[in-house]
Amino acid sequence: MLELRHITKIFNPHTVNEKIGINDLSLTVNDGEFITIIGSNGSGKSTLFNLIGGTLISDSGDIFLDGNNITLQKPCLRSRSIGRLFQDPMAGTAPDMTVAENLALAAKSGGWLKTISRSDRQFFRQKLSQLEMGLEDCLDQPVGLLSGGQRQALSLMMATVNPPRVLLLDEHTAALDPSSGAKVLEITEKIVTSQHLSCLMVTHNMADALKMGGRTIMLDRGKIIMDISGKERAQASVSSLVERFRSTSGKMLDDDELMLNN
Ligand SMILES: Nc1ncnc2c1ncn2[C@@H]1O[C@H](COP(=O)(O)OP(=O)(O)OP(=O)(O)O)[C@@H](O)[C@H]1O
Ligand SMILES: [Mg+2]
Repeated sequence: MLELRHITKIFNPHTVNEKIGINDLSLTVNDGEFITIIGSNGSGKSTLFNLIGGTLISDSGDIFLDGNNITLQKPCLRSRSIGRLFQDPMAGTAPDMTVAENLALAAKSGGWLKTISRSDRQFFRQKLSQLEMGLEDCLDQPVGLLSGGQRQALSLMMATVNPPRVLLLDEHTAALDPSSGAKVLEITEKIVTSQHLSCLMVTHNMADALKMGGRTIMLDRGKIIMDISGKERAQASVSSLVERFRSTSGKMLDDDELMLNN
């Protein structure tokens, strides 16, 4: 279980450049819970992930993972239990190394890369074939030669080959063409559900936000302004979310159109 208690992060406090990152935010993510996160540009979504992943330290509040206080734990230690994917397909992989080498690094949690055994290769091939993206035939190809969709699918596999306690997906399909994006979302659902992972997924696509997972939260100025699940979520529509955002935050979404058209 991941628990955030009264987390606050203000950038450049008491200066003209002061920006609210996260503002007294509390959130509990139960084991196996898949939460989608929406909110306009600058609402704090990536900051929230940076705080959970440890690349930022909060000004106040605490973060607990399975009961352990990890608020000040270094990111390299947290990365064993917190997997993360970014919007940029280049971000999660080493482009000059082969698919097999990337997977071996991930499987060994960044440990020293020794020779990749025949059984390792068999294991990788079998895992990759489940993605149905033709990656099982690319074991010896440098990752830089893969398509964006293949890279994100591989990044997902790398982030989950040792199942993390929490998986953070920061708009991981936003840079892909629509059909690759849809495919990567399908794989995401499959991996998260079959491994019963706790997952937080940021998306600008409200339809995806309602379709994926079982709970949706909306951020505005570093605060959770909506948290829906169950029947309420099942009955929600994209336009009802947009309306909710307008009425709760008192402003328009920066990219209403983008979200509605997606
Ligand atoms: N390292 C930083 N230094 C200063 N301000 C920052 C930093 N990171 C984020 N911010 C500010 O904090 C606020 C939240 O930013 P954040 O990147 O978390 O938003 P976001 O919801 O991820 O937006 P987007 O949808 O554009 O990705 C913004 O006002 C942003 O300018
Ligand atoms: Mg962001």
